[in-house]
Amino acid sequence: MNIFPDDKELKRLITLEDPAPLRETADKLRREWYGTDVYVRGLIEFSNHCKNNCRYCGIRAGNTSVQRYRLAEEEIIALTSNGYGQGFRTFVLQSGEDPAFDDESICRIIRGIKTSHPDCAVTLSIGEKPEESYRKYFEAGASRYLLRHETADEAHYRRLHPETMSLGNRKQCLRNLKKIGFQVGAGFMVGSPYQTLDNLVADLRFLQELQPDMIGIGPFIPAKGTPFENEPQGSLQMTLNLISILRIMFPYALIPATTALGSVDPDGMILGLKAGANVLMPNLTPPDVRKLYSIYDNKSSIKEEATVTDGSLSELVRSAGYRIVIDRGDVKSHS
Ligand code: 5AD
Repeated sequence: MNIFPDDKELKRLITLEDPAPLRETADKLRREWYGTDVYVRGLIEFSNHCKNNCRYCGIRAGNTSVQRYRLAEEEIIALTSNGYGQGFRTFVLQSGEDPAFDDESICRIIRGIKTSHPDCAVTLSIGEKPEESYRKYFEAGASRYLLRHETADEAHYRRLHPETMSLGNRKQCLRNLKKIGFQVGAGFMVGSPYQTLDNLVADLRFLQELQPDMIGIGPFIPAKGTPFENEPQGSLQMTLNLISILRIMFPYALIPATTALGSVDPDGMILGLKAGANVLMPNLTPPDVRKLYSIYDNKSSIKEEATVTDGSLSELVRSAGYRIVIDRGDVKSHS
């Protein structure tokens, strides 16, 4: 299989109905680069306040039916200590764009985690910030940043986002993060409203240009209280095809089998691993607020485990032919 498919071939692969050979090629490459290793990231959704109003997102500012919460700095740090005991060596701090967590607060949290557990990686997923803020987070010890580009097509971007946001700024943020030295994650939703096959090709071409270390994709899932609440859900098959395509085009990449994938199908997560994904993100957010981080409806979460290497999750992963490892799970070097 050509690892540099042209646009026509990409469209064929995205819509493939018998994906077995595609999955096989992807799995082979995944094993060449990462063996059977599956990396786990402890996800902490620390605030569902958001100043933005993205049309697809359940925690958009305009969704007044959402009960809002913030975790305290000490609570966030305590969650990572607990996670460390379970075997997590990477923590993903995710929130809406919440101005109440200013740079100083974010840096205190990062330093708190890194002081207690210097061998852990801290990943941030807190949205668009000035370059100077990104620099402060990096200096405080964060080493990875997730910021999905959502769609690389200008016209499509406009239909998903409010006037106050721009694709240009999104891309600039991603370039700034790379320049500073973060391992950077981009990505997009599959089947978001108005999305075309050409848009998906543009997403893949943008990723080729950016060369991100991590690529997160998942099916669009309608969220109540948003303008897109009655739009159809994105396709599981197409998402899996795209995971395989990503593995083939970016064999070095860290690709999660995302929560959205697990939410549209009970086997979604494992199917994601088999299609080429090599990362899982169990949710460490306290159960009482977890349900409030409702970026879409019926969000699933991976069950709590005593440790990451025993229990039902690791058993499930093992039965699929892979193995959860206790490791930071950094990206393999690529240029
Ligand atoms: N369905 C699926 N994914 C969504 N996201 C936000 N809203 C939805 C939705 N309704 C994704 C976006 C964002 C990530 C945190 O979650 O891609 O970057």
